[in-house]
Amino acid sequence: MDIFEINGPVRLSGSIDVAGSKNAALPIMAAALLAPGESVIPTAPDLVDIRSMETLLESLGAKITRDETGLHLNTTVIDNPVGDYEIVRKMRAGICILGPLLARCGKVKISMPGGCAIGDRPIDIHLRGVKALGANIHLESGYIVAEAPAGGLVGTQIFLGGPFGSTVLGTDNVMMAATLAKGTTVIESAACEPEVADLANCLNAMGAKISGIGSPRLVIEGVKELKPITYPVIGDRIEAGTFMVAAAITKSRLTINNCNLDHMLAVTDRFRQIGVQVEKTATGCEVSMDSFIHPADITTQPYPGFPTDLQAQFMALLALGEGNSVITEKIYPDRFMHVAELNRMAANLRKEGPSVIIAGVDKLIAAPVMASDLRASAALVLAGMAAEGKTTVQRVYHIDRGYHRIEERLNAVGAKIQRKNI
Ligand code: EPZ
Repeated sequence: MDIFEINGPVRLSGSIDVAGSKNAALPIMAAALLAPGESVIPTAPDLVDIRSMETLLESLGAKITRDETGLHLNTTVIDNPVGDYEIVRKMRAGICILGPLLARCGKVKISMPGGCAIGDRPIDIHLRGVKALGANIHLESGYIVAEAPAGGLVGTQIFLGGPFGSTVLGTDNVMMAATLAKGTTVIESAACEPEVADLANCLNAMGAKISGIGSPRLVIEGVKELKPITYPVIGDRIEAGTFMVAAAITKSRLTINNCNLDHMLAVTDRFRQIGVQVEKTATGCEVSMDSFIHPADITTQPYPGFPTDLQAQFMALLALGEGNSVITEKIYPDRFMHVAELNRMAANLRKEGPSVIIAGVDKLIAAPVMASDLRASAALVLAGMAAEGKTTVQRVYHIDRGYHRIEERLNAVGAKIQRKNI
């Protein structure tokens, strides 16, 4: 098992290229199921979660290869529409084969996703959506079995809102299923994340007829067939935000390439409140921090609100703030596994229901800490770069799920992170 040994404090300088978006690539890989033939994603990131999705698609019958031109997905033959428990339980995003397989094969069997460190991951809204399109659903020993009517799915008006607002992968699933349904589907309370918009733009390039992209109301006019596509996904705004926090927490200046600040307005708003300079460049942005860290209050919300996937990283930054901050998690109320670990590094964090009260401290002290989920792990790496001494982060496989060789890319701009296999 790999661990990170991180020496701090460090100063960073130089530029980092952000990879293609994990959360755009995963549903777009599933969308390839809608169009028999070979689709290519030139900017698919090389991540553990992407490889898990490759394994899942190959178990359905797809052939997948990667070369210098990108990820090649040949979905000519899909003869086993079953999403295996062993794969889906490890990666929740596997659920987004539900909609495409229902539309293409008329029947799909997929394991209920397991829970994970950030809390319960229900799929009731996904099922509400495909049922509204006419699918019959029943549970069979932990698997969902969904079958389309003999004549195929039928478009309708669907409300996809839930207790925590919209659902990203739920919107993806229903939108993909609706592209090949008879008639028109209207999705109310659709997720507006840029990754959902990227999927919709990809589907339209494949021949779908989707309007209202980026808005909470999507209108999908069913078509007879879709064509395979070559489609480069957008840059990963969460990876970009993580690297921007790296510059801020180490009081450095970094150039971040391949990120679209138009997708990060809630994030840059909080950076400015904290005293971080963020300047737009032709290919991304320049981030610098030369003052003390001002306190700030953050509440996570569906897009365009502050993204839950940057909550842990900002908590590491505000732990060193001059004063008290409050972070409230409205998407995953249990997404606070990083609180105890940051407190082991001398942070002063106190959980109060869905919020954490952050009393800023002058410095963090290196300590052995445990990664628990993808973004909490990133927060511990960021804290380790600012803390005094050598921090060891265990269970680094969590971070490899969403960041490609993060230690190599941070070391290239001045970090001191060693990956060790113990
Ligand atoms: C996507 O997950 C992302 N994953 C998550 O990123 C991200 O945190 C999340 O959206 C929220 O932005 C991918 O895109 C692969 P949701 P998703 O359905 O679609 C509740 C990362 O770190 N809900 O938008 O699974 C749910 O419990 C990952 O890259 C229901 O109640 O999230 C949550 O509270 C972590 N019923 C809220 O909605 C449902 O049927 C939002 O979840 C579905 C969701």
